[in-house]
Amino acid sequence: MQLKDLLVQWNSVYGSSDPDVIVRAPGRVNIIGEHTDYNQGWVMPGAMSRSLYILVSKIKGGGKKHHWIAADLNEELKFYHPEELPLSQSIWAKYILGAIHVYENDLGPLQIMIGGDLPIGAGVSSSSSLVGGLLLALQSLTGDQKTLKELAQLSSRVEREIIGLQGGIMDQFAIMLSEKDKVMMLDCREKTFEFISASIPGTQWVLLNTKVKHQLIDSDYNQRAAQCKQAVEIIQKQFSGINSLRDADEEMLIKSSLPEILYRRSHFVLEENQRVHEMKEALKKQDAVKAGHLLQASHYGLQYQYEVSCDELNHLAHLANHTKGVFGGRMMGGGFGGCVICLVDHNTLEQFEREAISSYQKQFGFEPEVIHFSLSGGVEVISP
Ligand code: GLA
Repeated sequence: MQLKDLLVQWNSVYGSSDPDVIVRAPGRVNIIGEHTDYNQGWVMPGAMSRSLYILVSKIKGGGKKHHWIAADLNEELKFYHPEELPLSQSIWAKYILGAIHVYENDLGPLQIMIGGDLPIGAGVSSSSSLVGGLLLALQSLTGDQKTLKELAQLSSRVEREIIGLQGGIMDQFAIMLSEKDKVMMLDCREKTFEFISASIPGTQWVLLNTKVKHQLIDSDYNQRAAQCKQAVEIIQKQFSGINSLRDADEEMLIKSSLPEILYRRSHFVLEENQRVHEMKEALKKQDAVKAGHLLQASHYGLQYQYEVSCDELNHLAHLANHTKGVFGGRMMGGGFGGCVICLVDHNTLEQFEREAISSYQKQFGFEPEVIHFSLSGGVEVISP
């Protein structure tokens, strides 16, 4: 939904006065560095041009009822107390409650409307976009002076403490702190980052959305995080100074006699961290062939070693990695559905998209969505 349509809906539902604050919160893409953030490693995300808009007003005139609307989902909630909410159905409301909870500066009942053109459940982190955007809106209403980095850290607490997903900080940092036309090379242990250009002349980054989200994601995601933790505990028995897989090397994995499955998971994380550094070099040199090889290696690692892919993702990544004029592609985000990110030669783009759509449709009976994007800045207050 466009912002102007949201404003029309706002005025028709809440009356003529415009929202006290409007925030644009982008989605997140990730060039490389998957499942490395909660292992204190490196990632290379950016904010995308597709966004959520979050419109908020304090309720004036003594009304006590919250009134929240998710315009794209056509859902509306009016309530006095959070206990009244159907949180298992309206997960978006759970994220809003979480943001209000961690913000710890109660503004009383709020009118909130969310909507935009960010696909939901597509692995572009619409949930972190909602939480990050709302935190900035709350900050704008209260006049508090938290930095964007502090808000990003608050946002990641919502995921861990309220939602129960043992995620890292990648999505929140990218959504809050990105710069236009750049990706962020983020060190998840030090929480420091530098911006680099991801554009290689003659090529384009594109997303292919499988439009599936397999239900297991939450439990599998936490299981992977737990396996990495378990591997660290075993390595620590033999080697000192190991606080995360970030501190380990291949020799340590071998000498610690990790069980096969933990070895595979840890080995992937070590290699993926290395690939983030190699991608930085490839992008600096504008070397699309090298960048493509890294994407391909990352996908195979996620498919076979870390085992977080699925048939639909594998199908599209396989096409990307075996089509002339496409440098490479890999699943993006937590996995089990969502998008494949591809680096494609400009001259091949249209043909590749057509072929991907028809081959996927033939295999699965429905079409994937092609998502073009540019890299945008992070979350911003756009009004007042
Ligand atoms: C999800 C999480 C991130 C990150 C990715 C995998 O998007 O929210 O913190 O772990 O999965 O790289």
